[in-house]
Amino acid sequence: MGCDRRIYRRVIQYSQDGLILLNTEIIKIDEHNIDDKAKEAIGRAGRIIRDGGLVAFPTETVYGLGGDALNPESSRKIYAAKGRPSDNPLIVHVAEVKDVESIVKEVPDEAYRLFDAFWPGPLTIIMNKNEKVPYETTGGLDTVAIRMPSNLIARELIRQSGGYIAAPSANTSGRPSPTLARYCVEDLSGKIEMILDGGQVGIGLESTIVDLTSGEPMILRPGYITREMLSSVLGAVAVDRTIIDSSSPAKPKAPGMKYRHYAPRGVLTIVQGPSEDVVRYINAKSVEASNEGKRVGVIATDLTKERYKAEVVKSVGSREDESMIAHELFKVLREFDDENIDVMFSESFDDSGIGQAIMNRLLKAAGHNVVAL
Ligand code: TXA
Ligand code: MG
Repeated sequence: MGCDRRIYRRVIQYSQDGLILLNTEIIKIDEHNIDDKAKEAIGRAGRIIRDGGLVAFPTETVYGLGGDALNPESSRKIYAAKGRPSDNPLIVHVAEVKDVESIVKEVPDEAYRLFDAFWPGPLTIIMNKNEKVPYETTGGLDTVAIRMPSNLIARELIRQSGGYIAAPSANTSGRPSPTLARYCVEDLSGKIEMILDGGQVGIGLESTIVDLTSGEPMILRPGYITREMLSSVLGAVAVDRTIIDSSSPAKPKAPGMKYRHYAPRGVLTIVQGPSEDVVRYINAKSVEASNEGKRVGVIATDLTKERYKAEVVKSVGSREDESMIAHELFKVLREFDDENIDVMFSESFDDSGIGQAIMNRLLKAAGHNVVAL
């Protein structure tokens, strides 16, 4: 069966933040079996978006919270539902390259090369917007971030919605991005009309963002498409240094990167150093915290997992398989929240390839709280 429907019922009333609580309909769809029933459900979701409503949906990176990107009122609703500052611009999702051409001043040659190499997929490209894109969607900027997701539910939804979906990650602002529909339910039920549940996402970290509007292409947010991969198509590619250097006084060029982000509810510390020392240090600190009555969690890897003594130990996979680590990281952070963990320790990861994105998210989740042994 390609589709299954549930309604999350709440009485219509005002919540604390002044939003009207809605009945949020949750529909399960199998990305690889989009049958007529599933198509009908996606069609309804598309109508909700065209009518100015909001729908959370799966992409290959993380779940998105979608509204009509060309409708200023929809963008306002997205900010309200997420509790997100409105100077933090949204990504516009498209299903066809021709749709990019009609919302930007000009598509640079580099962009066409990137479309060929990486679209549809986890790459967001910043270009100069034209008058069709409201400033409410771009947080007041003259540039617009655009991405074509590869997830088939997302692509069908974009087509059914009129071609342009503005979608930030479907989490409450500041929390880890959702890699499962259940986390969208946790953060957004009662605040949006519908959630399309397409199961666990494939990648697990948000898209790479590359800016093509100011000279040399520059990565503003690292992701699954690495600097090396971009360079193979574009030549020299710069990296916004605020991404890796927490001591940099410069403001990040992607406004969203300045906010505390991806944060679990407990306090997270990243421990760097030789593996033996890391295990010893974390075990000693875990005992201390447990003695103080705190619940302790450790983010480990397959090789070290058995060696930790903390109450909850979760492996994000093998160090050789960076994609798996990316896939598991946000999920593990959310699970620690579900299990009411107060204090967390994480091993550190290599900073090359996808490792750059993993460390960028982990450092943000830890508020740059790092112990180097
Ligand atoms: O994988 C993804 O990109 C997911 C899925 C849903 O597509 N979306 C996502 O959106 O991560 P969001 O809103 O959580 O993050 C968008 C980031 C923010 O850091 C924002 O500041 C930046 O993109 N951004 C958007 N438009 C921009 C622009 N015109 N210039 C610079 N940064 C921009
Ligand atoms: Mg986000």
